[in-house]
Amino acid sequence: MANINIHEDVERILVTEEELREINRRLGKKITEDYKDKKLFIVGILKGSIYFMTDLTRNIDLPLEIDFLGVSSYGSSTRTSGQVKIIKDLDKSIAGYDVLLIEDILDTGRTLSYVSNMLQSRGANSIAVCTLLDKPERRAPDVTLVPEYVGCDVPNAFVIGYGLDYDQKYRNLPYIGVIKESAIKPEDRD
Ligand code: IMP
Ligand code: MG
Repeated sequence: MANINIHEDVERILVTEEELREINRRLGKKITEDYKDKKLFIVGILKGSIYFMTDLTRNIDLPLEIDFLGVSSYGSSTRTSGQVKIIKDLDKSIAGYDVLLIEDILDTGRTLSYVSNMLQSRGANSIAVCTLLDKPERRAPDVTLVPEYVGCDVPNAFVIGYGLDYDQKYRNLPYIGVIKESAIKPEDRD
């Protein structure tokens, strides 16, 4: 039975728990087919991707390794600037591995473009992107990165839950919801 208690700061639910399970099953099955003869290395971008990554990888029926990259991008609580700093690096070399980057949401696409270029320069055999959510409308004009795996597209609204935060809160909501305008600080509003 889905959780019907909606958090008071959530305007509406966009992706339910059941829909999240279905997304994880579908993407896990596809990744299992696509990476059969590869050397799969899953890299989660902290912290937003952790709920998605732990559920997704349990649906991938292949040998794989996991690690995390901590990135900080300068900007406000609701917008990224594209200037990325690595604050937690990978524990080992990914040279020769088929890297699958796991992200919570693709917005302008600047964070992942930076990370993807960086890992390419470290000698990965291949790099692909798996994002739970995509806001295609928001992509920056200079970003050419295209995600290979997408859970679902979302409209241009600020979303929280299942890893996604506003001001470091709400990550533990079991669904994805649109945050109420009243819960956003005036300086962060559009
Ligand atoms: P990008 O570099 O603009 O693609 O920024 C992606 C990052 O911005 C994501 O990993 C999130 O941390 C954050 N972000 C973008 N949109 C949202 C949103 O609607 N809710 C929560 N975080 C978001
Ligand atoms: Mg974030």
